[in-house]
Amino acid sequence: MNPLLVEAVRSAGADAYPLCSVDDVPFGEGRSITVEGVKIGVFNTAAGFFAIQNECPHEGGPLSDGLLAEACVTCPLHGWRINLRNGRVEGREDRVSTFRLHQDGHTLWIDAVDLERFSG
Ligand code: FES
Repeated sequence: MNPLLVEAVRSAGADAYPLCSVDDVPFGEGRSITVEGVKIGVFNTAAGFFAIQNECPHEGGPLSDGLLAEACVTCPLHGWRINLRNGRVEGREDRVSTFRLHQDGHTLWIDAVDLERFSG
């Protein structure tokens, strides 16, 4: 994302950042988008769009490159399966951060509070 746009949104006190167009993420796939230095995995599923931290809690695998099934993604490196709704890893205590999205027209917006909580 354009850093000047991010700064403009922040200075305006907005509660969400424009993340991408819905057309940027084909159905059944994920894409990596960096916002404020945070790598976000954005997924287009039959259950809707989801955004999570794009680093697997195991060894940092790029989750946006994983296979989607329902609202879960399987890490492309060693196969951990992550629920996109809550960030939990199946059968483990590990989890990734999730980010609320909303759609306005063709634009996906990411929740500013979630993003700032994650980026510290
Ligand atoms: S890095 Fe994701 S399962 Fe190992």
